[in-house]
Amino acid sequence: MAEDLCISNGSKAEKYQTLLPQIKSLIEGEDDLIANLANVSAALKETFGFFWAGFYLVKGEELVLGPFQGPIACTRIKKGRGVCGTAWAKAETLVVPDVDAFPGHIACSSLSRSEIVVPLVLGNGEVWGVLDIDSENLNTFDATDARFLEEVCSWL
Ligand code: SME
Repeated sequence: MAEDLCISNGSKAEKYQTLLPQIKSLIEGEDDLIANLANVSAALKETFGFFWAGFYLVKGEELVLGPFQGPIACTRIKKGRGVCGTAWAKAETLVVPDVDAFPGHIACSSLSRSEIVVPLVLGNGEVWGVLDIDSENLNTFDATDARFLEEVCSWL
């Protein structure tokens, strides 16, 4: 396996198009979930320079912090709380252009300004975790991020 990530210097969509096959080959060759979540977090942060990229995993009635890249973060989030807990409760991707305008947003860092959360969903519709990405800028995420990140999440 190549250890170096190849990063496109083109548009956002081109960056994802270069990144996704590399993520696929990284995770196809490994069946350990934590190893794969760790590498996906690192690949996303390295490609886009996001402030924070990582996973929370469902444990009982809470999300518990999993593999991530970035500053230390809140360890537990209740179902329906914050952006992550809401994406879990609704089982849908949430794009938040301005975290201050999201009721109940959980500020793990005051530097985080916008956010996308993609649920990790089993075949039966049950959510087993979320991918959370935070940006220091407003309006960072859109339908392009949602589409490519949902594809990555469907492989996990
Ligand atoms: N802001 C998130 C909490 C997780 S951290 O940003 C890493 C939320 O509102 O769910």
